[in-house]
Parts: sequence; C-alpha cells; structure tokens
Amino acid sequence: MTDFEPKIVAFCCNFCAFAAADLAGAMRLQYPPNVRIVRLPCTGKVDALHLLKAFESGADGVFVAGCMEGECHFLEGNLRARKRVAYVKRLIAEVGLEPERVEMFNLSSAMGGRFAEIAEEMTARVKRLGPTVPARRKEAAES
Ligand code: FES
Repeated sequence: MTDFEPKIVAFCCNFCAFAAADLAGAMRLQYPPNVRIVRLPCTGKVDALHLLKAFESGADGVFVAGCMEGECHFLEGNLRARKRVAYVKRLIAEVGLEPERVEMFNLSSAMGGRFAEIAEEMTARVKRLGPTVPARRKEAAES
C-alpha cells in the first residue's frame, strides 16, 4: 500500500484558499502534488453533487477550503459549504466509504503555510485509508 498516491480534489474559494495556495507556491513551500485545485468564486457554490462527482470520477479524497467563518465575501457561503460537507460525509458513510475522505477547512489568503499543511494532512490521511475504488484497493494491496 506504500506506492499508493491518492488523488485529492480541493474546491477552493478564490478569495482565501486559492490565494493561499498561490502564496504557498510563491513562498516555495513544498506540499504533495496529489492535490488538484478547483477554483470557485465562493465555497457557497459547492453542491453536494460536485463533491460526490469528484469521488465518482476517481478522487480518493476531497476537501473544501473557504474563508474564515464570518469573513465570507458572500456572507454565509462557507457556512453552507460546511453543512454540505457534513451531509456528504453521511452519504459516503452509507455507501461504505470513510467520512474522513471529505473535509472542510477555513483559512485566509495570508495562510500559505496552512494551505501546505492541509494538503499534507489530507494526503497522509487518504494514504492511510487507501483508494476509494475497490479495483484500485486490490492493486495497491498487491504492490
Ligand atoms: Fe470565500 Fe465565500 S467568499 S468562502
């Protein structure tokens, strides 16, 4: 299972997490390349279906990263996103996936270091859990 490199999709708010990811790059901070970013105008745009679709398309982990609570540019977008993430945790648990595969984070645009930590944390977490697709689980176990 050591060779398993998870695919992680990050739905990032343009105003905070995306800017923080950009800052992490500018600061030359190292973080795992497993994270693919989807840039959003606000995490309030994330629907439960988007998160589920990411899993259906082969993601092993998904996270949503929005502005700090109380600082969403659209007032409550990040609070709505938090509720949707909680809902998706329940849905994926019902189909036998670990709810820890999906997570919500809050950060500011100045937190480049925190973005790198989140990317590392999610990559390590999903590596521990293994692939989502049964065929890939078998493949990873044999390697
Ligand atoms: Fe950043 Fe809403 S504007 S989460």
